[in-house]
Amino acid sequence: MQILDGKKVSEDIKNEIAAQVQEMKVKGEKVPHLAAIIVGNDGASLTYVGSKVKACERVGFESTLIKMPSTTSETELLKKIQELNEDDDIDGFIVQLPLPDQIDTQEVLMAIDPSKDVDGFHPENFGKMALDMSTFIPATPFGILELLERYNVETKGKHTVVIGRSHIVGRPMSILMGRKGFPGNSTVTLTHSHTKNINQITSQADIIITALGVPNYLKAEMIKDDAVIIDVGITRVQDETSEKGYVITGDVDFENVSKKASYITPVPGGVGPMTIAMLLKNTLLAREQKRCK
Ligand code: GUN
Repeated sequence: MQILDGKKVSEDIKNEIAAQVQEMKVKGEKVPHLAAIIVGNDGASLTYVGSKVKACERVGFESTLIKMPSTTSETELLKKIQELNEDDDIDGFIVQLPLPDQIDTQEVLMAIDPSKDVDGFHPENFGKMALDMSTFIPATPFGILELLERYNVETKGKHTVVIGRSHIVGRPMSILMGRKGFPGNSTVTLTHSHTKNINQITSQADIIITALGVPNYLKAEMIKDDAVIIDVGITRVQDETSEKGYVITGDVDFENVSKKASYITPVPGGVGPMTIAMLLKNTLLAREQKRCK
């Protein structure tokens, strides 16, 4: 069994990006600038956004964090988005999800200028992705592709089973794994809450990508020998013995599943850090595309 070490690979990617930023600085060019909007005080979301801003500093990007109260109206958020769309200094920005109930997420995502949509959530970018056109690929799926590529995990002709059909991970992942090329060329099954006989399906999978948010959901008896296991789950589970009062737990029963798998991502230290690295990569791409306009 080999660990797919997202922590290490993401560090490699950040070093590569930092070197490119250094070159930009030497040439006197403007460095990429990422902005992030967060609405409300959800602890996990604040942590993720904080990590994104810290990663910007680490590679030499400029960053702006915009915190808005949980009572923010959709109109107020759309106004802020318009400001960022029009701000020439900002190369790319994200709106951290989930948003409070009074705000229509789809309306918000559609208001983002597609050329600054480094999350790849705008329908124009999502459509381009589905049509194999060059665009921003959502950071978590992009990170999974990058991990598979850097470890040279064979995907061609394999049966990939995706668990969960979220717009952020499961749905785009199911499209990307079926695309032509590497990683891709898989036969894909997208499973969700209405899927029947899930164990029968997962036990036929060569590659399982689980993005469910149910701690320890995937058990050893649900997989076949030598399956590749990608765990996107990051749930905070209460644990009084830990300093923070919780531990981050994946969707996979790692202890038992890892004994059967050929490759597996740990939680933490697998897909999570890759998401941040690929957001930086998309921001660099946004900057380069703007420069070439
Ligand atoms: N919430 C969970 N994952 C993500 C992500 O990749 N981007 C944004 N904007 N929000 C998220």
